[in-house]
Amino acid sequence: MPNSDFVIKTEQLSKIFKVGFWGRRVTAVDGLSLDVHRGEVFGFLGPNGAGKTTTIKMLMGLIYPTSGTASIFGHPIGDPQAKAKLGFLPESPYFYDYLTGSEFLRFYGHLFGLWGSTLEKRVDELLDTVGMSHARDLQLRKFSKGMLQRVGIAQALINDPELVVLDEPMSGLDPIGRKEVRDLILRLKESGKTVMFSSHILHDAEMLCDRVAMIMKGKLVACGPVSELIAQGTTHEVEMVIDRLLPEALERIRPLAGKVVLQGERVMVVLTSQQAVDQALCVIHAAKAKLVALTPHKASLEDLFIREANVIQSTKEAPVS
Ligand SMILES: Nc1ncnc2c1ncn2[C@@H]1O[C@H](COP(=O)(O)OP(=O)(O)OP(=O)(O)O)[C@@H](O)[C@H]1O
Ligand SMILES: [Mg+2]
Repeated sequence: MPNSDFVIKTEQLSKIFKVGFWGRRVTAVDGLSLDVHRGEVFGFLGPNGAGKTTTIKMLMGLIYPTSGTASIFGHPIGDPQAKAKLGFLPESPYFYDYLTGSEFLRFYGHLFGLWGSTLEKRVDELLDTVGMSHARDLQLRKFSKGMLQRVGIAQALINDPELVVLDEPMSGLDPIGRKEVRDLILRLKESGKTVMFSSHILHDAEMLCDRVAMIMKGKLVACGPVSELIAQGTTHEVEMVIDRLLPEALERIRPLAGKVVLQGERVMVVLTSQQAVDQALCVIHAAKAKLVALTPHKASLEDLFIREANVIQSTKEAPVS
């Protein structure tokens, strides 16, 4: 099978919508090339309107790309062989809300050709997997948002797919609900599945993903392992809080520090290099001052996100020469 290590591969994938009477062109996805590898949890990140759902809809074969190509398990998108190995949770799933939890899953099971005792067993297993066995006979319209999200994920797993694509699986959930969905995604990974999910909640992605892609205005701005991305171009800041620092010692530290804040008896300094930290520690020790706290500020995906958004903003604002 071609591209067997790439579960998803897109090349220069683009989507232009024509909107309104005059057919104004909106570029939702712009030359997107990315790979999702077998067995990984892949985070597809970007702010509102970045083009995440549009990309996912193209991958699911729900809308056609304007240009570019994409494949799933080496098959062109929309190919029935790819669809058979695929589970999908849409961004705003439409639920037949008069169905009960088990009826809803049975309905989707039938779509995949499951019937009888095989289907009953599968429904029970899935309700258990997503912690919803108690709601098997409850109508969906009585479900909370978190319960709907969980039964939606169960639906995406009905055909025991190798690839699970979840569009905003944590949206609208409280911290406990988010943790439950995160745990569920990790269990899917443990069972050997590949998971791609979109989110603008960067903290969730940071905790879950092997790799992430970040898109803004339809373009890929960063892609790689989370640890590599957050290390790129970030300064590692260290914050020190010092007690009983005499003014002359403070004057020796001031040139080393990016920021100095006096808080009564205490001084808070922010240092941006290991060398500055070492020198400041020597000054503190020699001056017999007391180091109260030393806190490294770990860079996060959020820093990268904000940095990339600023780059895009400043490019947009730059005067045309
Ligand atoms: N059917 C459509 N017709 C016209 N424009 C569309 C259509 N669908 C999406 N768009 C536009 O394409 C862009 C990307 O939208 P998309 O829904 O893919 O973003 P998103 O990253 O999923 O955002 P969110 O985080 O809000 O879900 C937006 O500017 C949106 O208005
Ligand atoms: Mg979306």
